[in-house]
Amino acid sequence: MRIAMLTGGGDCPGLNAVIRAVTRRAGAEYGWEVYGIRNGWLGLIEDDIKALGPSAVSGILNQGGTILGTSRTNPFKTEEGAARVMATLRGRGIDAVVAIGGEDTLGVAHRLHEEHGLQVVGVPKTIDNDLSGTDYTFGFDTAVHVATEAVDRLHTTAESHNRVMVVEVMGRHTGWIAVMAGIAGGADAILIPEFPLTVEDVCDLVQQRADRGKRFSIVVVSEGTTLTWRSGGEQTILSSEEVDAFGHVRLGGVGSILAKEIERISGFEARVTILGYIQRGGGPTAHDRILATRYGVKAAEMVKNEQWGMMAALRGDSIVAVPFTEALSQLKTVPLELYEIAQTFFG
Ligand code: F6P
Repeated sequence: MRIAMLTGGGDCPGLNAVIRAVTRRAGAEYGWEVYGIRNGWLGLIEDDIKALGPSAVSGILNQGGTILGTSRTNPFKTEEGAARVMATLRGRGIDAVVAIGGEDTLGVAHRLHEEHGLQVVGVPKTIDNDLSGTDYTFGFDTAVHVATEAVDRLHTTAESHNRVMVVEVMGRHTGWIAVMAGIAGGADAILIPEFPLTVEDVCDLVQQRADRGKRFSIVVVSEGTTLTWRSGGEQTILSSEEVDAFGHVRLGGVGSILAKEIERISGFEARVTILGYIQRGGGPTAHDRILATRYGVKAAEMVKNEQWGMMAALRGDSIVAVPFTEALSQLKTVPLELYEIAQTFFG
């Protein structure tokens, strides 16, 4: 048996832990040949593949990023892309692929499986935690940890200066990082795409606190939030008009507009911190190392069991296999009951 794995899409803490786990279980235990594909699907278009043995994956468990490199390449963007992917695999005699990625990478894996018969299993990666079919993706816990630490640090300086501190976090079109870091950090208002608060609502919360003698506030906003005003006005902020190979716009900057608006409407001094790629960089938390390791071991087992077209998933405390269709059917959004818990502490 000869298998190859790739990491696609935005990088994320824990990718190396998965690579290590697949290599150890499939190589050392099952005795298969294991290969790493460089830079996501691009490596299969360009035939850029290297052998992975125990020494290649030694010492990487706690390292951020991915030793394989990643890209947002979509083989279906060109006429011949998918055919080249399949030709590379045939040429190399690779029997199966482990695709480690989010919605886009696994979407490609699903299409290659359905349309070209690729023998593939998936592992759910993204700091955004927006993938259905699994309770949590690996990388998310680390991002929440980073964002929570930032909120804690901003608290002290907000209080010293009697300021409103707006913290913009990633999450694309969902508010998972914002809501979890907001709960963990004791945010006074959290704005997420799923349940938008108006800018005036946020100002009221800030004023409510000031009336109780707390002349500082922490406001967490998820990058994909559309700002709304009581007048009915709304604004979605992009950092660029460009779209990637999967048609995604580049988000970022909503925190700056929100801080200016809070200052304008409430009169409180406001500042913004945009956490950006800091949430994706660096080593994984212990929780993510363990989750990623469990996913990697499961992925190797799924190849052994020929569970093609399926993804390793966390359900409760068990790692199970679920069909790609379940993972890709819809974006996993923040449920109302979780947001309501956060809301209990607003103002
Ligand atoms: O999906 C992970 C993520 O980090 C999002 O939270 C963010 O919007 C996006 O990727 C940034 O993508 P890029 O690396 O292409 O700038």
